Formats: sequence, structure tokens, C-alpha cells
Amino acid sequence: MINKATSSPMDVTSHYIFPRIQPHIHSWVHQYGKNILCWHGPQPELVITEPEVVKEIMSIKEISMGKPGVGPIYRKMLGGGLVLSQGDKWAKQRKIATHAFNGERLKNMVPAMVESTKIMLERWKDAGTKEIEVYNEFKILASEIISRNAFGSSYEEGKQIFKNLWALSLLVFKTAHKVRHPGFGIIFKDKDDIESDKLQDGIHNLIMQMIRNKEKMIISGDEDKSTDYLGLLLKAHHDSDDSYKLSIQDVIDDCKTFYAAGHATISLLLSWVTFLLGIHTEWQEAAREEVQEVFGNQDPSSEGIARLKKMGMIINETLRLYPPATSTTRKVLKETRVGNLVLPANLNLQIPALALHQDPEIWGEDAHLFKPERFSDGIANAVNKNPGAFIPFGYGPRICVGYNFTINEAKITLSMILQRYRFTLSPNYVHAPVQHISLRPNCGVQIMFQGL
Ligand code: HEM
Repeated sequence: MINKATSSPMDVTSHYIFPRIQPHIHSWVHQYGKNILCWHGPQPELVITEPEVVKEIMSIKEISMGKPGVGPIYRKMLGGGLVLSQGDKWAKQRKIATHAFNGERLKNMVPAMVESTKIMLERWKDAGTKEIEVYNEFKILASEIISRNAFGSSYEEGKQIFKNLWALSLLVFKTAHKVRHPGFGIIFKDKDDIESDKLQDGIHNLIMQMIRNKEKMIISGDEDKSTDYLGLLLKAHHDSDDSYKLSIQDVIDDCKTFYAAGHATISLLLSWVTFLLGIHTEWQEAAREEVQEVFGNQDPSSEGIARLKKMGMIINETLRLYPPATSTTRKVLKETRVGNLVLPANLNLQIPALALHQDPEIWGEDAHLFKPERFSDGIANAVNKNPGAFIPFGYGPRICVGYNFTINEAKITLSMILQRYRFTLSPNYVHAPVQHISLRPNCGVQIMFQGL
């Protein structure tokens, strides 16, 4: 069904991508109702699209709700890092990540985000009115920003890690819908398993090298370099208290997770916003006016970011229509009752954000249209106080740790582009969203820029 639905491009003004990206869920919801039980080989999975149930499930404490197992290639990409871990290990990892990406630290990251965006804009300087494929540009930008802020390195230094992660993600995509016998991929290996082993080993060696360099810096007393995310992970690795201690493999897995999660999703958010503002130029003008009121021609500052209300509405509406993470998963660890559902242990759960975000019963008959004004009185009012209806970053204890980091980066980058350019969607753009781990534009996003 997915192959058929994505075999041709869509009309550029159509944002109703749910039947294209998740045609099976779209058809089941219409046939069987909002919550559907399906099977992946021998493994049952409940797909939930009722916002009240979604909210309850996502609020449940980590002890009774874990993460389902993933295929061997996906595991090579993220290891036992924060996205896939559960129980006590998750609690330890989560504490460190929350500490590294919140409050004062986030504020201190703003100048580095501005500098990285300047490097990208410097490349665009001679664009004139020429076309730029922005998805690729935003991938480099987001890689640079996560490298600098989390690892104290640069895109160039982490380039091979990003390349290997990208190649692994292609293999995950290729094998995503295969149901395999247990043991395949571990005991019996095919070409993809062997290739993914090599990529995994490459990433492992590169991260170990980065860790050794960081340890040298910490030993030499360079305090600044020891308080970023990698510095905090290494501190936990050397902690004498076992309840805080992380093994070196945990450190490597969390680095992989943050390299992957920290650049893939943000570059997609920026690409889809630019695509939408390239069509809805009235909203582009409104956003530009706001940026000029708040920053004039100055670089963005952390104080001003919170005042970009219209831009916040545009970002939310983009995340509603084109959520980079289209689904979230859970595994029931202990029998749990939610509303009138009894969820037995070992049941997998899938929560497809896209189904909720594009449901006309929640958002009205214009659910498929780009209308940022829905969010003018905040998210709570847009969803009639039901947070389960809008979950681009998840909800509850496992809500995205990179949420504030993402919003800051998106607002900074968009402000700096709007200060310098007017833009429209290029006639060469082909509207072909695909689910490839995250929601990607299959043919890139070609934009025509005109300097102001
Ligand atoms: C547009 C950008 C992003 C989107 C749409 C997004 C989406 C999500 C979603 C939906 C979840 C929840 C998964 C769940 O409930 O199981 C999540 C978790 C997570 N995100 Fe993000 N994310 C984004 C950016 C980032 C960034 C920039 C980072 C790193 C700096 C990051 C790191 C993580 C991690 C580590 C988790 C796992 C948290 C946990 O399970 O405790 N994300 N993200």
C-alpha cells in the first residue's frame, strides 16, 4: 500500500499526507475505528488514534511503559541510547540529557547557533535569484549546530559519523517492512547485515576517538569543554556511585542517538517550514515583519526568541501537517488499564501522530489546510485542552529532550533567512513526502531566493 501511495508525486497545494504516508492505518481507521489491533508476524500491536487514550498512555510512568524492540539494523544506529532505553538506565540517561539541553545552557548555545547559520548564509551569498536545494543545506547546518553544542566539535570533524548514520538509515528504510525470523541478522547475516556491521564499527571507532580527545581536554583542565553533553556523559562514566554511572558503551550509544536525533529532525522541520512559506508568502511577510520588529537587522538573541509569536504559530502548524516523527511507539511492560482498554504485558503500541494531526474530527473540515492562526491562542486552545491531539514532540515523561533546543534553532535560522531574503517555491520542486525513518521530501526542497 505504501509503495502504491508514494509511486507518484502529490499536488503541491495538498497537505493531506496521512493516506500517502500511512495508507494502511488510514484505511484501517475508516474500516475498524480509532484503535486497531494488528500483527507484525507473531507480535501484536495496538494502533491508537484516540487523543484521550494517547494522552493517558503517554503520561504513564516509565516503569510500566517501555520501548519495543527494533530490528537489528535500527539498533546498530541508535544502540541502547536514550530513545530506545527503558527502566533505571533510561532514568539515568534522561537526567543527563535534560541537564545538558535546558535553561541557562540553552541560552548559552544561542551565539553558536547564530554563527553556524552565518556560515550557511555565507554559502548562499552569491545566490542572487538562483535556486537552492535547502534540505541538504539544512542537514549540514543542523549537523554543525549539534556537533558544536553537544560535542564541542564541528560538522567537518563529525562528517564521517553523519555519513555512516545516513547510510545506516538508508538500510533501516530498505528493511523496515521485512518480517524476519528471530536469529536472522544476528546468526545468519545477509548483505545488508554485513554492510551495517561495517558502518556500526566505523561509527564506534570515530566516537571512541572523540571520547579520547575529550578526556585529554578534561584532564588538561579545559573546564568549558567538559560541561557540554559529551562532557556530562563522561563525568557520569567516571562516577563512583553506581546509580549514576554509565558504561562506555552507554556513552557511545547516547552519542550516536544525539548525532542522529539532533540533526535529522531539525533539518526536516526547517525544510517543511521553508516549503510552506515558499507557497504561503502572506505568512512569510507576516513572519518577516515580526522579525524586523523584534530584531531589526541585528542577530537574534535569546531574549527576542520568546517574542516571535507568529513564527511560533507557523512552526506549530508545520509540525502539525508535516511532523518529522510521524509515529511514536511503546511496549506495555506490566498489564495496564487505560479507559475501557486493558493492555496486557508485551503488547506493542503505535501512536501515529500524523493520524491525530490531520483528523477533521479534531481540527475541523479544513484540517488539511495550512492555517497557522489555529495556534493564535496557544497550543492548549488549538487542541481544545486535549494535549493528546498534537504530539510532534511526544508528551509526558518521554517528551523530546531536544524540544527547546529545536525551537530556538528553528527560530534563529528562519529569522536570519527572513532578514536577508524573500523566497518562493521553485517550479522544479516535486511534492513527494516519504516516510524514511522520519518524514522526508523525497526530491529535496528547491527554493528561489531573492536578496532584500
Ligand atoms: C523537529 C525536531 C524534533 C522532533 C519533531 C522530535 C520528535 C521527538 C518525539 C516525537 C519524541 C518522543 C518519542 C517518544 O515518546 O517515544 C522525541 C524524543 C527524543 N528526542 Fe526528539 N525531536 C526533535 C528534535 C530533537 C533534537 C534536536 C534532539 C537532540 C538534541 C532530540 C533528541 C531526542 C531524544 C534523545 C528523545 C528520547 C527521549 C526519551 O525517550 O526520554 N530530538 N523526539
